[in-house]
Amino acid sequence: MPVTFITIQNIENQQNLIINRPKSGLSLQGNLKVPGDKSISHRALMLGAIAQGETTIQGLLIGEDPRSTANCFRAMGAKISELNSEQVTVRGIGLGQLQEPEDILNAGNSGTTMRLMLGLLASHPGVFFIVTGDTSLRSRPMSRVIKPLQQMGASIWGRRGNSLAPLAIQGTALQPIHYYSPIASAQVKSCILLAGLMVEGNTTVTEPALSRDHSERMLQAFGATLSIDPETHSVTIEGRPTLKGQNVIVPGDISSAAFWLVAGAIVPDSELLIENVGVNPTRTGILEALEMMEADIKLENQRVVAGEPVADLRVRYGQLKGCTIAGDLIPRLIDEIPILAVAALFAQGKTVIRDAAELRVKESDRLTAMASQLNRMGGKVQELSDGLEITGGTLLKGSEVESYGDHRIAMSLAVAALNATGTTTISGAQAAAISYPDFITTLQRLCD
Ligand code: S3P
Repeated sequence: MPVTFITIQNIENQQNLIINRPKSGLSLQGNLKVPGDKSISHRALMLGAIAQGETTIQGLLIGEDPRSTANCFRAMGAKISELNSEQVTVRGIGLGQLQEPEDILNAGNSGTTMRLMLGLLASHPGVFFIVTGDTSLRSRPMSRVIKPLQQMGASIWGRRGNSLAPLAIQGTALQPIHYYSPIASAQVKSCILLAGLMVEGNTTVTEPALSRDHSERMLQAFGATLSIDPETHSVTIEGRPTLKGQNVIVPGDISSAAFWLVAGAIVPDSELLIENVGVNPTRTGILEALEMMEADIKLENQRVVAGEPVADLRVRYGQLKGCTIAGDLIPRLIDEIPILAVAALFAQGKTVIRDAAELRVKESDRLTAMASQLNRMGGKVQELSDGLEITGGTLLKGSEVESYGDHRIAMSLAVAALNATGTTTISGAQAAAISYPDFITTLQRLCD
């Protein structure tokens, strides 16, 4: 007999997730695996497509975002087998060989697809591309990658003074630059490094704090030469390498594991073991933040798989404490701030999140989304210009809330609902499929 009632209501293309929390007896128990890392999945598909020979990918995320990447690169000549998490085969076309697509490339909801791909497209001489995305992506800032690409000599046009998609790109030979990025963004860094592949000479990116380094690791594995200065957060790539297809094993996504880490930590008497999670140090800010909050989380069975550190994460319920999350930690947990806001509601005292203005230009304005929706549930969340101030310890009440079409908001609200009295209805819950298609079924299983 399930102790919680989770139902899905489909209304046209929209899905309502209804969580009717039982009065007592709810706890989350069991072992689980989370889907493949989204960032690594995009990069494996892209590098596989531009390398020589065959790339195999095990553990690829089968979500809407990697589908967008695969479809774009198929349209430019790469042969990519049907996506599945067992094994995907990519027959690469070789560096500089992207074919002019017959139609507009559609990156869907995926900022990583659009921004990383722009570096590759802009540097393909004589090839013309048009790129678009969904309503959310068409409103997200692209000038952060277009400006450095223009400094390299790129020809890109777009709406609002070349800052918004749809974008038109006339590929051309680019010049190397040293780009000092004003923001710590792996998408900006990776876009320039990918453009640098096609450039004669060395291209360098320096960022104000270290962002995720999956591109650096995977480019090296495929045969590119990089030099990395951890002191100054600088990466240099040598142009025109020979990239050779590889066997990539994608670890579980710590950004997806984060929902279970917080659910296990806040729902009384829970214990979960999340297996095979990527614990690359540029991504483990969530573990450090939860440690500051005194969560009971242990890393077990730590190992390195295909160049990425991996561990099993065990979480047990316990009382959390408020903390401050800011500074260089932010890029290392940027996608986990919505779920950390949920954790903070159940912590003693105040949690302050600062230096996180980037959240306003993610798939939704995640600061407004989380503050407004958690407050609707009775939370005490104050929106700051660059963060949130959350007072823990108020009783959450089941309410009608919305996902803002954003996968991480939908899943964060579902976790909040586990500790809210009565019934919570989350509209637009289908957004979870962007990064975690099995989220709802896994939630049902763990609550049984
Ligand atoms: C990503 C980088 C981050 C992150 C996004 C994925 C990547 O974005 O928020 O979900 O795969 O490079 P920014 O580079 O904009 O911070």
